Amino acid sequence: MENKKSFIFNKLWDIYISQNPDVHKVYTLLTKEGENVTNDHIAYRTFNDPRINVDKISQAFISAGYKFVQEYHFEEKKLFAKHFEHKTDKNAPRVFISELKLEEFSDELQKIIGAEIDKILTNLLNSEDIIFAGNAWGKPSFVTYNKLREESEYAAWVYVFGFCANHFTVNINALKKYNTIQKLNSFLKEKGFMVNNAGGEVKGSPEELLEQSSIMSGKIKLEFTDGKHEVPSCFYEFAKRYTDSTGKLFSGFIAKSANKIFESTNFYKKD
Ligand code: NI
Repeated sequence: MENKKSFIFNKLWDIYISQNPDVHKVYTLLTKEGENVTNDHIAYRTFNDPRINVDKISQAFISAGYKFVQEYHFEEKKLFAKHFEHKTDKNAPRVFISELKLEEFSDELQKIIGAEIDKILTNLLNSEDIIFAGNAWGKPSFVTYNKLREESEYAAWVYVFGFCANHFTVNINALKKYNTIQKLNSFLKEKGFMVNNAGGEVKGSPEELLEQSSIMSGKIKLEFTDGKHEVPSCFYEFAKRYTDSTGKLFSGFIAKSANKIFESTNFYKKD
C-alpha cells in the first residue's frame, strides 16, 4: 500500500509539472533557496454524476490507505467536497475532492456534460486509473468551453482538463526562510507570479488555524476542435497550519477560504 501511495503521488506530480511550467518554476526556485518542499494536499475536481463523482474518484486513494475525514458545502459555487487522509502516515498529503452539482445548472450544461461523460470508455470508468486520465472525453471545443464559463468556471475547467491534480500545495510549516505566507507571497510576486487576489491574497487566519494562498493558474496553449487557444491550467497553492488550544495541528479545510481558492483557474486576460 505504501508503494501504491508513492506511485500515485509521483505519477500525479510528473503529469502536473509537465503540464504546468509555472508550478515547476516555483518548485525549482524554492528548492534553490534551500527549502524542503513538501506537499500539504492535492485537489481533484469532478462532476456529481455517479459514474465519476467524489466517491468514484476517491476509490484509488482509499485503496492506497486513505480514509474519509470531512465534507464541505459550497452553496454559491454549487459544489460539494470531501477530504481524505492517510490512515497511518501523518506526513502523507491530504486529498481534497470536489464535485459540481449538475442538477443545479441549466439543462444545456447538464446535457453537454452528460454527453461528454458518455464518451468515457467503460474500462476506464471501472478502473482506479481514472485519476490519471486527464481529459477522458476527447478534444474539447473552445466554443463549448466559453459557453460553460458563463455558468461555471469550474465546469469549464473540468471539461478541458478532466482528471488530474488541479493543484499541489506547498506545506509552509516545513519551510525555513519563507515560513510565513506573507514572506512567501512577496517572494512569488518578486519573481513575477500572479497571486490570486480574490478575497485578499491570504485566505484564512491564524485564528482559523489555516492560512492559504495560491498563484493564478499559468495559461497554456491547447488544441481545441476549433483552433489553438490559451487557457488557465493548474495552479500551485501554499498552506500554513496552526495548532489548536490542545496543541493539535489543524488538519481540515475552511470552506470560506477554499471558495476563493477555486477561482485560481478562472479565465483572465493577460496584461
Ligand atoms: Ni487546496
